[in-house]
Amino acid sequence: MKKERMSRTIAIANQKGGVGKSTTTINLAACLAERNKKVLVIDSDPQGNTTSGFGVDKNEIEETIYDVLISDVDIKDCIVENVVKNVDLLPSNVDLSAAEIELIGVKEKEFILEQKTRELRTVYDYILIDCPPSLSLLTVNAMTTADSVLVPIQCEYYALEGLSQLIHTVNLVRERLNERLDIEGIVFTMYDSRTNLSQQVVENVKQHLGDDIYTTIIPRSIRLAEAPSYGQPITIYDAKSSGAEAYRKLADAVEG
Ligand SMILES: Nc1ncnc2c1ncn2[C@@H]1O[C@H](COP(=O)(O)OP(=O)(O)O)[C@@H](O)[C@H]1O
Ligand SMILES: [Mg+2]
Repeated sequence: MKKERMSRTIAIANQKGGVGKSTTTINLAACLAERNKKVLVIDSDPQGNTTSGFGVDKNEIEETIYDVLISDVDIKDCIVENVVKNVDLLPSNVDLSAAEIELIGVKEKEFILEQKTRELRTVYDYILIDCPPSLSLLTVNAMTTADSVLVPIQCEYYALEGLSQLIHTVNLVRERLNERLDIEGIVFTMYDSRTNLSQQVVENVKQHLGDDIYTTIIPRSIRLAEAPSYGQPITIYDAKSSGAEAYRKLADAVEG
């Protein structure tokens, strides 16, 4: 008999833009895939940066997460298989920005993604959901689907701003919609070891959150910033770079 898999589902969330959510989603997926884990990446941001970061032309795709959320299409027909070995992608593009409005008044609209992905839980080891830069219905859908939330934090002066609000949202979703939901860990992104500021941000956040969640540091790296324009994760674009190594350590932490 075939062994049943149960996916672990992780939402990558922070309502701030530009903190490294998409970069983390793409490269964590690629590092898990390197270990022969079967990964589904769900791009839930209308910007579609994760979609194009995997080399998929977001303007050419016919069916996206938008169609999954607002119509009866079969989710399997919307998934792009093997964007890299062992990684499948539910893509996104600007169409998704209309979903929130179109779902007004729809019953159980906080659980649509959870319901649509249920049949995939035996297919993948991991499902990673890249969230938009807001605490919107799309982010709530990601949080009702997920077992945990991974929070990228950019090492800059305003890093702590908004963090309490994010944690409050996670707590609300846990109390009212999804009792499984936990904070998975913190990924400090764009860390610059030459500045005191980066070190201070890491210390502050650790004090703020306590020690029971793991923290991983991703250095600022040109190679990480370049890779998406080649449509490649760092494991392919520059497999031996410090960025690739850092994301492998994050995969270690995730796999625990
Ligand atoms: N560790 C890093 N080093 C250098 N540039 C990075 C790093 N992580 C992300 N970036 C760059 O920062 C920008 C924002 O990252 P992105 O992952 O798109 O953030 P978000 O999805 O949170 O908006 C992108 O241009 C990305 O290439
Ligand atoms: Mg993004």
